[in-house]
Amino acid sequence: MNLKGRDYIETQDFTAEEIEHLLSTADALKVAFHRGEHRLELPHQTVYMLFFDKSTRTRNAFEAGATQLGAHAHFLEPGSLQISHGETAKDTGIILGQMGHGIAIRHDLIPEVGNAYMREVAKHADVPVINMQCDVDHPTQTLADLMTIREHFGGDVRGKKIAVTWAYAPSYAKPLSVPQGLITLMTRMGLNVSLAHPKGYDLMKRPMEHARANAKEAGVKFEVVDSMDEAFADADIVYPKSWGAYDLMLQKRDTTSDAQINSIEQECLKMNANHKDWICDERRMKLAKSNAIYMHCLPADRGSEVTDAVIDGPQSIVFQEAENRLHTAKAIMACTMRERPF
Ligand code: CP
Repeated sequence: MNLKGRDYIETQDFTAEEIEHLLSTADALKVAFHRGEHRLELPHQTVYMLFFDKSTRTRNAFEAGATQLGAHAHFLEPGSLQISHGETAKDTGIILGQMGHGIAIRHDLIPEVGNAYMREVAKHADVPVINMQCDVDHPTQTLADLMTIREHFGGDVRGKKIAVTWAYAPSYAKPLSVPQGLITLMTRMGLNVSLAHPKGYDLMKRPMEHARANAKEAGVKFEVVDSMDEAFADADIVYPKSWGAYDLMLQKRDTTSDAQINSIEQECLKMNANHKDWICDERRMKLAKSNAIYMHCLPADRGSEVTDAVIDGPQSIVFQEAENRLHTAKAIMACTMRERPF
């Protein structure tokens, strides 16, 4: 299968067979990494990593992953580029594409902006563009999540139930892209998905439509409930995490005054605080299957989204999940940037 030159912006842009190919490549690269074998699939190549937001896992997965494949990753922030003086996505895409072999972008905090920015870069760049998280999807995260679920359950995950639920966080209004990415990818790969959130935390319309259509095609269930307990009931996988109220995030996007932006952020946190009981604790874990696993993309707000007892407990696989960010990032770079099919 040849994915060379393909942009990886949403998993929905890839067929189930192409997703399988990326996963099997990640599996092979993981085995090689643990054996200490060098897999220099991208010698002397350059990948530009453009971060409009902070990152621990994604940046280091891509930067370390590029090095391990024989490539070099440049860390770029808009503030130190001419983007801060208004250089367009088109011009940035053409120029970086002329000089390197891949462009990876994180632009996740502003609804209706990040995905469009990446697609504009991709339209004009002659190299693959990889989405390191936008407002719509976090496709490198969800690929790692799927890899982790398959590793845990031994490959056959069709028919498993995953609870994708909102959880309380006091830190900041987090993007919607992880739950949106999960409901689209997991339904397509044959998992039953129960999405739970309090009133006012609806996801974007397009990923919801994709999830409904994917579930129908795969013959699995996609339900939306307003109770964390209901979503957890008999789940094989629980994935509780916080996200911001979309309507408030849109208001923030359309505001230019720092004082107003701060006031909207405070309103988001105040709204979150009405739902402090949306925490993943040991009582809730007992509602899921006895062998259920706890997942989180991290960073987690410990004590708010999840108790220490759960995230550090025997059902948690968050660190295996985080490690798989490396192997999946490498698979995506190797498959899309390599001269010959992987
Ligand atoms: N899960 C995730 O994307 O982590 P970072 O924000 O640290 O990259």
